[in-house]
Amino acid sequence: MTNSEKRSSRISRYWIAGLVVVFILIGFGLVFISINQSVQSLTNATEPRDALATSNDDCVTCHRDETPGIVQQYSFSTMAAAEVSCRDCHEVQREYPMAVEHEGTFILSAPTSGMCAECHQQEVAEFNQSRHGLPAYIAVFGSKDLSVEHLALYESIPEGQYAPDKSRNAIAALEGPDMTKFTCEGCHNVGKPAADGSVGQCQKCHLRHQYSLEQARKPETCNACHIGPDHPQFEIYQESPHGIAYATMGDNWHWDAEAGTLSTEDFPAATCAICHMSGFGNQSTTHDVGDRLTWYLFAPVSTRRPNWEDNMNAMQGICIECHNENFISNFYIDADKATERVNIWVLKSQEIIKPLQEAGLLTAAPFDEPIDYTFFNLWHHWGRTAKFGTWMQGPDYAQWHGAYEVLHDLAELQEMVNEKLHEVGEGD
Ligand code: HEC
Ligand code: HEC
Ligand code: HEC
Ligand code: HEC
Ligand code: HEC
Ligand code: HEC
Ligand code: HEC
Ligand code: HEC
Repeated sequence: MTNSEKRSSRISRYWIAGLVVVFILIGFGLVFISINQSVQSLTNATEPRDALATSNDDCVTCHRDETPGIVQQYSFSTMAAAEVSCRDCHEVQREYPMAVEHEGTFILSAPTSGMCAECHQQEVAEFNQSRHGLPAYIAVFGSKDLSVEHLALYESIPEGQYAPDKSRNAIAALEGPDMTKFTCEGCHNVGKPAADGSVGQCQKCHLRHQYSLEQARKPETCNACHIGPDHPQFEIYQESPHGIAYATMGDNWHWDAEAGTLSTEDFPAATCAICHMSGFGNQSTTHDVGDRLTWYLFAPVSTRRPNWEDNMNAMQGICIECHNENFISNFYIDADKATERVNIWVLKSQEIIKPLQEAGLLTAAPFDEPIDYTFFNLWHHWGRTAKFGTWMQGPDYAQWHGAYEVLHDLAELQEMVNEKLHEVGEGD
């Protein structure tokens, strides 16, 4: 090797050593950055950011003392993190319906869905087209006091006016307003019309002020209203395999996953929201809870809905993520038959009571004699429960709180009718 050759090989060795050192340093740097990021995401996951910590908006600073719970909850919401302020929901012009003067400005004590619509137009529009909107309110109070705008909105809902039996309005009237504020209204105000022309109380499902997706998605949220002898959807769910999966493994599901992106990785079994609302499989998120329903199950005698085929395909588009096609179509064939079986029983009850109606042997007043209750319970409690239990995998509700009670009431109704006919010397 010549001197110059030695020198150039030494130089290239320095170069190589230098490059190795640089690569090692870059490597350390990358490892450091990634560790740092995962530590950060860990701390983010366990300690969400208090988005209002440095806020000097006077709504925030004063309410941190006056109503600390509200500021605390809102400060950990994704909306606060996205810089949506108290004022965005509460502050209005002086002339806005229901505005009250407050600390040098005007606010709504309870922001309406009209305020949400500023930013969530689609959710509000879907909600307004659903039976959670005006139909829920009208179920109790009727439509006579609606404004012209609200009436037009009500009339535009394809499934809105399907209200075959309003005997429950009579119950509301019997109980009177002292009670209905705590009874019917507690659930049916979800669709209460507001003075600014908007409809509904989103806070029935989105508890303020955290607006947590986890909270809205959990079945307990629906449980506020979908329980009890006449619509025990929550109890049925609890005894279904889907509900068992939720109760035993739900802790590990991805409750906060971004809406519209949910898959079986996030939810390996179905919840109320997955089947009726969430974007899942080939279905997008909807606030129209009727969108995936085939039947009017709540009716005494069920008929199919206006767009039932599209709706059925939509619901089956959810099931197909976890069940195969034959399983689902067989399930629908069987559940259709059970629905029609209950229809036959309810029609029979109407036949049984007919002689009394024709002979004028029932009093004109609703719910003033035991037979009115038996006739009503038969379809309103037991007939519907049998159908709900069938469709949502609750065998005890389909059977012992459903079909069995229908048969029992049919026998009792027949006996009551015979007795009344006997009293006036008709029948045997
Ligand atoms: C200087 C203090 C202060 C400021 C500033 C302030 N508030 Fe209040 N706010 C109060 C107090 C006190 C109450 C009554 C609390 C109670 O009744 O317990 C109240 C009540 C409310 C209520 C309930 C009203 C009702 O009728 O039930 C709302 C909503 C509200 N504030 C929102 C806001 C918003 C939005 C802002 C900013 C535009 C704001 N506040 C600014 C002190 C303040
Ligand atoms: C996303 C919309 C939204 C935002 C943002 C919001 N609120 Fe509210 N707030 C509501 C709704 C809806 C209600 C009515 C809830 C009800 O009727 O149960 C309410 C009710 C209230 C009440 C009365 C509740 C009671 O129990 O007395 C106060 C006070 C209040 N908000 C303060 C605030 C403050 C302070 C902020 C900001 C830190 C804030 N809100 C941000 C929607 C919002
Ligand atoms: C000024 C605009 C604005 C208003 C008014 C508003 N929101 Fe929001 N909201 C947002 C934004 C922006 C987000 C997205 C936050 C994110 O995903 O990072 C959001 C997210 C949400 C979420 C999803 C939370 C999550 O974790 O993904 C719910 C639920 C919600 N809003 C409900 C409401 C309701 C109910 C009202 C009316 C009472 C309302 N919002 C009013 C802007 C608004
Ligand atoms: C615990 C909550 C709750 C209470 C309290 C309640 N309802 Fe309902 N109601 C519901 C639910 C949930 C449905 C929907 C059942 C379904 O679709 O399967 C419903 C359905 C109805 C329907 C049928 C739908 C329609 O538009 O024709 C009527 C009518 C009705 N309720 C009237 C009343 C009256 C009147 C009262 C008070 C006497 C009352 N409800 C009390 C939750 C409630
Ligand atoms: C019957 C209960 C219920 C009612 C009432 C309700 N929501 Fe929701 N909302 C949900 C559920 C459940 C989700 C989560 C859907 C999912 O799993 O992705 C949700 C999600 C949302 C989201 C985030 C989803 C998205 O697409 O970005 C917004 C925003 C929202 N709701 C706004 C509203 C507004 C505004 C109202 C009132 C008009 C309202 N919600 C009424 C149950 C409800
Ligand atoms: C505050 C009470 C309330 C809550 C909470 C509630 N609902 Fe309802 N829901 C009702 C009422 C009332 C009706 C019946 C309205 C009518 O038919 O007149 C109804 C009807 C329905 C229907 C039938 C709609 C139709 O077209 O016949 C479905 C499906 C439904 N709700 C699903 C849900 C789910 C899923 C949740 C939870 C994410 C939920 N609801 C939360 C009160 C509630
Ligand atoms: C596995 C999917 C699934 C789950 C989970 C589920 N449902 Fe359903 N739900 C259905 C199907 C399917 C029907 C019948 C649809 C039809 O009419 O074709 C139904 C019917 C209903 C109805 C009756 C609507 C009417 O016409 O009267 C209501 C209300 C309802 N579900 C609410 C709930 C609630 C609340 C929960 C949770 C406690 C829940 N569902 C859980 C699939 C589901
Ligand atoms: C996210 C996944 C998922 C979705 C979506 C889903 N299911 Fe299921 N389903 C399950 C799981 C898990 C089981 C439990 C299987 C077992 O018994 O081992 C189950 C069980 C069932 C059963 C068996 C009931 C029994 O008593 O053995 C029926 C029927 C059923 N599902 C119907 C439906 C229908 C109808 C739909 C759509 C409306 C649906 N499922 C949507 C996951 C799902």
